[in-house]
This record gives sequence, structure tokens and C-alpha cells, in this order.
Amino acid sequence: TIRRKTAPDIRARKGGDPIVMLTSYHAHTASLVDRYCDVILVGDSLGNVMHGFETTVPVTLEMMILQGHAVMRGSQHALVVVDMPFGSYEASKEQAFHSAARILKETHCGAVKLEGGVRMAETIAFLTQRGIPVMGHIGLTPQSINTLGSFRAQGREEGSWEPIEADARAVAEAGAFSVVVEAVAEPLGRKVTEIIPIPTIGIGASAACDGQVLVLEDMLGLSPKPPKFVKRYGELGPGIEAAIKGYAEEVRSRAFPGPEHVYGMKKS
Ligand code: KIV
Ligand code: NA
Repeated sequence: TIRRKTAPDIRARKGGDPIVMLTSYHAHTASLVDRYCDVILVGDSLGNVMHGFETTVPVTLEMMILQGHAVMRGSQHALVVVDMPFGSYEASKEQAFHSAARILKETHCGAVKLEGGVRMAETIAFLTQRGIPVMGHIGLTPQSINTLGSFRAQGREEGSWEPIEADARAVAEAGAFSVVVEAVAEPLGRKVTEIIPIPTIGIGASAACDGQVLVLEDMLGLSPKPPKFVKRYGELGPGIEAAIKGYAEEVRSRAFPGPEHVYGMKKS
């Protein structure tokens, strides 16, 4: 059996070779991502990608557990990190432990991720001290959309860095094994990476981060309007559409199924 990467393995990569991370929500895409990536994130972005929600707020613990289990079955090598959804961890550290323990026990994944820096430090410490590896998530925290008002990059004004630097220090001191830094000014992404001892995973942050993450469907060119920070490594939308169009035409013309796609009688 192949030993999977662990949270301590990723923690040890600070300042070394960049950590490669992508999202996946399904067994099939997980098996492809698993060939090239160190970490697979079962992100609550599945709310947007799979369910068509406008935000991640409606995502449930049950959705995360179902997809987390699918990704574990599809992968062998990568560390699988499952997002804690909005409402499953903010009320208390005990609520967070209960939800995170369910995720670990029911999916067998290796870590959870939760949003928030200073405000979540006590919770991160409570989980890590009790056997649950936590990846932090600071900068733009999409679950807070209803208090933020919009999805805007953070730390772009003079004098606006202090709270995000404090968040980075807080998650590191609380025992997180790494931290996602989302949509911050590039020099801030760089500075945060310099000032904390755990790996930073950037998304719309900086090439100086200790790793990078993107949403798989965004980088494949399957998402209608991805954010500025997404580089498209594929244009799969037109290919999928062409295949569906070809199928529909052949069903309507009875060209499909052909003789090679049907079963004859066995010789008796
Ligand atoms: O849910 C998600 O996919 C994420 C990444 C964008 C970091 O949290
Ligand atoms: Na997320």
C-alpha cells in the first residue's frame, strides 16, 4: 500500500519546493489530480460548481462529507483536505470539533480547512491539540460574503495590511499546518509568507507563496466567469459542448447506436 502525504509532510515543505494543490469533488477527477498534486482540496466551492449556488453559504456538512468520501476513494497519494462549511464551526470550538471529527471519521481525509484568522485561533488550537490537522484560510474569506458585501481583494490600500498579518500569525501560532491566502495584494501575500513559519498556499496572492491552489473547473475553462486570479490551463467547455451536440444529432438521426454498440444473439 502507498503511504499518503500527511499534514506534517506538507508543514515540512515551508520554504522548499512549491506545494501543488487543486480542488476536486469527485472520484474520477480526484484520480487525475492525484497524479500531479500534493494536496487535493474538497472545497466548499462545490456549492458554486456542483450546485449552482451564488455563494458558499448554503453548503452543508453532508455535502462536504459525501464529496470528501468520493475524493478519498478516487485518490491514493495526495493529502485530502475537506472544507468545513459555513455554520458547522463558528458557534464554538466544541461545535467545530464535533463537525471536524465527523468529517475525518466519515471520509477518512487527512485534514480540514476553515476560514478566519484571529477570530478562529482558539478553535484552530482546540482542534489541532485534539488530533485534527487544520489548514487556515485568510485574506478574502468567501463564507463572510454577507458581512463583507462583495468579493474584493484585500490589503490593497496603504495601511491596510495589519489585520491580515495578524490573522496569518494567529493561525500559525494556533497550530495550523498551512494556510490558504486568498485574493490579497501581491506584496502582502509575499510578506505574509515571510513572516510565518508555516507554508502559505496562494490563490490570487503571490508567486512567492509556498504553494498555489486553484478551483479545478476554473482552470479547466469550465466556469462561466472565473475571478481575475484564475489562469485557464484548458478550454474544456467547447469540447464538451461539441460532444453533446454530436450525440444529440446522432440519436435524432438514428446513427447511434451503431452495430458495434449493440449486442447480437449468442450462437446456440
Ligand atoms: O472552496 C475552495 O475551493 C477554496 C479554495 C478556493 C481555496 O477554498
Ligand atoms: Na472554500
